[in-house]
Amino acid sequence: MSAPGTGAGRVGERVLVGRIADLPEGSQTSVRVGDQNVLVIRDQGTFYALRNVCTHQNFPLEGGPVEDGAITCTKHGARFDLQTGRALRLPAVKAVRLFRTEVEGEEVYVSPL
Ligand code: FES
Repeated sequence: MSAPGTGAGRVGERVLVGRIADLPEGSQTSVRVGDQNVLVIRDQGTFYALRNVCTHQNFPLEGGPVEDGAITCTKHGARFDLQTGRALRLPAVKAVRLFRTEVEGEEVYVSPL
């Protein structure tokens, strides 16, 4: 799912993801941050942002099931911790890159860490 109004941001720039009210629990929203495709996930009330690319074979993570604070790649089943990006299950061994999320007023932003 992609949020309306998400635009491309320059490198190092904070990018608007959307309004909190439009990003319900369990939502997955992809945005561009510089040249990166970033997936913003709302899980247990917290927003997480990670590169939308599995470190196994570069498959998009968007749409993968989120459970126990981790997202599962639908291609071969690798799991990544939302807080640390760490690969929790083979076949992925490399962590996925994380991005910073910020809530300001009613809006959610993402930027490079
Ligand atoms: S591409 Fe994600 S587990 Fe293989």
